[in-house]
Amino acid sequence: MIQHSLNLFFNPSSIAVIGASRTPTKIGYETLKNVLVSNYQGKVYPINPNASHILGLKCYPSVLALPYDVDLALITVPAKFVPKVILECGKKGVQGAIIISSGFSEIGENRLEDEVLETAQKHGMRILGPNTMGFKNATNSLDAAFVYGMPRKGSIALISQSGALSIGMIHLANSELIGLSKVIGTGNKIDIDDADLIRYFSQDSATRVIALYIEEIKNGKDFIEAVKHCHKPIVAIKAGKTKAGAKAISSHTGAMAGSDKIYGSVFKQTGIIRAHDTVELFDFTRALGSQPSSKGDHIGIVTNGGGAGILLADACEENGLVVPPLTKKTYKRIDDVLPPLIHPSNPVDIVGDAGFYRYEMCSRALLEDSSIDALIITSVQAGYARPREFAGAIEKMIYEQHLHEEYDKPIIGCWIGGKEYEDLVIDLKRAGVPIYPSTTRAARAIWALVEQGKKSFRFSKKSKN
Ligand code: COA
Repeated sequence: MIQHSLNLFFNPSSIAVIGASRTPTKIGYETLKNVLVSNYQGKVYPINPNASHILGLKCYPSVLALPYDVDLALITVPAKFVPKVILECGKKGVQGAIIISSGFSEIGENRLEDEVLETAQKHGMRILGPNTMGFKNATNSLDAAFVYGMPRKGSIALISQSGALSIGMIHLANSELIGLSKVIGTGNKIDIDDADLIRYFSQDSATRVIALYIEEIKNGKDFIEAVKHCHKPIVAIKAGKTKAGAKAISSHTGAMAGSDKIYGSVFKQTGIIRAHDTVELFDFTRALGSQPSSKGDHIGIVTNGGGAGILLADACEENGLVVPPLTKKTYKRIDDVLPPLIHPSNPVDIVGDAGFYRYEMCSRALLEDSSIDALIITSVQAGYARPREFAGAIEKMIYEQHLHEEYDKPIIGCWIGGKEYEDLVIDLKRAGVPIYPSTTRAARAIWALVEQGKKSFRFSKKSKN
């Protein structure tokens, strides 16, 4: 059990939904329903002075009228009532509150927000929000949010300043078969912010990778401190890179996007891996969650199609990676496996009709080559291709034999083709194998593993040149 003030927040024994509504279309109704339909094992109390029962549960007029202890309050009353509700929660000894209500600093109501924070701090209560969707804890099945939908259980913690985007990302992760540990909407971040959550997740045994969607960091110094002490990979999207994006941020949350150059250099200095969009964020987290970081930037490529190998080589070099020549010993080993008249090089073209044996033998040869730090295994759905044998070889090498652990080098898959491949890679994705339907995405994923390696092993660019 981790010793952190947010532990009770994410694992409460009892929850009060303050502003629980009798009307099914209202947020206060949906929030109570979500908590109830999730597999949450603790006590749930609806609070509403105008109702006797909601969804079959007895209602209490205020949290102070409740004859039981409450760990967490989920607040869905209009903003103007929130200060009073927070004061009552403080008096009751509630440890944490999620303020779903909007109508605070994002529309210029800073004084209301300050009042809420002051009261909460006086009573030692932690606040998530306001203006947040809440959180979803896939580890203990608690859906403490007003929008329905749980992620698959997994090891990626997702922290998002945008509630709607985080819900979209849950659906994206679900359809990509990526599991999440917790999803948190940070909202206006008056108390619990990215730094707090990074500290928490760096100790959370259910979390291996931390993913962030950021519009604004208010306390840069604290954020940098938290990141520096975190030994888990952190991937971030920083929105508002351009003038148009910055303008959109200020009308979304009232936040300031800040200088993108400064964010970029902080990310570089602290080892945060920057993703450009939500698809890339999950591409990176999928690789970082299952593979070791790379100890260098020299990439080996095995492919059944010459063109795909060239595209991968280009994409690797464009991302500052090296596709080096192999040792003589490796060339000899590959030569023994390939059909006559094919000259081995890197990328290793194992030819269109390559089956299980060529994939496995050549991949092993590259993993055993000291000039190679990381491996991309690729298949193109061309005329003589054997998709099943490609998928089978990847499954054996990564999922069954854990060659990435045996050689301590990351391995990822890449495929170019259609429905037949798409169907075949489903089981691989479900098992957490990083495999991508594009050479650019595969090269970017291997770049992320190299970037994480730079942080973990402190090697510099083009280490072996
Ligand atoms: N304690 C407990 N319940 C109270 C209360 C109090 N002090 N005062 C009022 N209530 C009850 C109301 O009676 C009502 O229940 P009912 O429908 O059964 O009568 C319920 O709380 C909700 O109050 P209501 O005035 O109907 O508000 P609402 O549902 O129209 O709107 C919010 C409330 C919070 C949803 C709305 O103000 C809001 O902020 N919406 C945006 C939320 C959002 O998008 N957040 C960010 C997401 S990323």
